[in-house]
Amino acid sequence: MAEKSWDVVVCGDCGRRVSRSSQFLTVSEILRVRKSMRLLHRILRIVCLQCCFWIGVPLFVAAAPGGESVKFTGGVVAADHPAASAAGARILREGGNVVDAAVATSFALSVVRPASCGIGGGGFMVIWDADRREARALDYRERAPALATADRYGDAADAGFPEPRSVRGGLASGIPGTVAGLCYASKMWGRLPLRQVLQPAIELCESGVLIDAHDREVQSGTLAKLQKHPEYRRHYALLLKLYLNDGQPWQDGDRFYSPQGPVLKRVAESGAAGFYEGPVAAAIAAVVAEAGGVLTADDLQGYQPTVRTPLQAEFRSATVFTMPPPSSGGIALLQTLQSLECWERRSGSTLQSLQHNSADYVHVVTEAFKHAFADRAEFLGDADYVSVPVRRLLSSDYAEQRAATFRMDRTLEAASYGRFFLKDDAGTSHFSVLDAAGNGVACTETINLTFGSFVVVPEWGILLNNEMDDFSANPGKPNAFGLLQSAANAVQPGKRPLSSMTPTLLVRDGRAVRAVGASGGPRIISATVQNLLNQELWGMTPAAAVAAARFHHQWAPNELLLEADLKNRAGKELEGRGHQVQQSGGLAATQGAARNTDGMLQGGSDPRKNGQPAGFDLEK
Ligand code: DON
Repeated sequence: MAEKSWDVVVCGDCGRRVSRSSQFLTVSEILRVRKSMRLLHRILRIVCLQCCFWIGVPLFVAAAPGGESVKFTGGVVAADHPAASAAGARILREGGNVVDAAVATSFALSVVRPASCGIGGGGFMVIWDADRREARALDYRERAPALATADRYGDAADAGFPEPRSVRGGLASGIPGTVAGLCYASKMWGRLPLRQVLQPAIELCESGVLIDAHDREVQSGTLAKLQKHPEYRRHYALLLKLYLNDGQPWQDGDRFYSPQGPVLKRVAESGAAGFYEGPVAAAIAAVVAEAGGVLTADDLQGYQPTVRTPLQAEFRSATVFTMPPPSSGGIALLQTLQSLECWERRSGSTLQSLQHNSADYVHVVTEAFKHAFADRAEFLGDADYVSVPVRRLLSSDYAEQRAATFRMDRTLEAASYGRFFLKDDAGTSHFSVLDAAGNGVACTETINLTFGSFVVVPEWGILLNNEMDDFSANPGKPNAFGLLQSAANAVQPGKRPLSSMTPTLLVRDGRAVRAVGASGGPRIISATVQNLLNQELWGMTPAAAVAAARFHHQWAPNELLLEADLKNRAGKELEGRGHQVQQSGGLAATQGAARNTDGMLQGGSDPRKNGQPAGFDLEK
């Protein structure tokens, strides 16, 4: 352990200080303290549960379980982990604004959902400032290192490796953007000091966080991967030790203690420089070089987030604000909504007349998805590096053209929609924040696949992303799986890989009324659209909207994925219209928040990922 670590270790259940030392602890000392804390926690938990049972004290005060719709008057945060939602709600209660809450939630997610997102990754944030009546989009997506040229990736470069070099190891990581983005947002638009906003995340490192069903699922999937490639146990020994309980299956009542506390404390003290300069930057560059990558301390020092103008469109008497390129999600979401509105006009019918999740409804929305995804694959990339025809893709003429091809009795051949093919993904986190004053944040962050590149920075416990895999490794020619992808998304130094992340706000009468988004690779787009439609068209609460059965079609591969309920209900009829129906497990994980017409705020966190929203009430 090079520099410092926790000097105080606090118990999460009772807030009790378990160890105090004026010396900084080493990683092995931390691991020893954690072991004894685990035992203590087991005992405390039993005592605590007994007390709560006998005196009737609820264990969560401000948190709302996934299926219910608790209402708040002051603010609401819906993240995919209860402790992250609670971190954001606490900061709102302490007088922070929605940006402070978003920054606190994001840093907390880095601690409690390390397989999905975090300080080694990147993200997008869409913000509505109700006072100024202004929407902003913050892009803190990872960028390709200066030496990351296309020839380092693709079939030839991958030969002899168990997985592509864009997926595991040093070459997989883009320059992380999360810390720069969050510090920028806090400085430009936040109200509270960064130090205060980071406090909940730092406390979560110290107290540890109870393992949930999602953590267990992620652990067993990752251990299976390490089993399959035995050399990974050696290459990624730190991942195993610090994030996978040393390979021991998590048990009920276990807690995860994130090793990120020391670096979060540095950021609290020195802002982004605590990460992008000095010993942290040097350690990141060193571990990447050792793992065969090219990301340097200069790349880190040069990283800056970018403020962009959000994409904007009218939908049902509201304005939708969503993420522009390098996200593909915003364009695909708007194209889908446009196609659906055109279809309604042309057919003289309404989506509401079709019944929620009926075969007719799934079919029409799927047709809209197929067009949007075909365009995504062909045209989209980082618009700072390639020309993306955003205006043409979102023009009303083009929407009419797409809707004109819809037939209710059958779907079309895949070739009628486009020419290129997409790949699939698996890590990421979305959260939504609304406050009483009309402000809102929709934020989606990722390290790409579960546990990213598997590379962990030894001294600081930072888990590095594998966002380089969001580039097309073999542009214009079939890759190892026979899939084709567009050159618009080829690797290029400094460029950002195309993303499906779709943080989206709906603004009505100057107030953010919905904040939605999702995780799940390309399924982000279809899940975000369904979350929005479930609320706007079908009048569902955010909790019901995120829980409802979902479907997904990304044009290629040519298959319509249906969750079990939906397959049972509409599968046969959809097959009859020519869809290649496949049953799927949970499709993406989506979060949402809504402002009701009476001003009450509600959140919904996807039960598929054990999420739970939190909020607070204004004092009367
Ligand atoms: O930016 C993207 O589109 C991907 N890196 C997202 C990956 C993802 O959502 C994985 N899922 N759970």
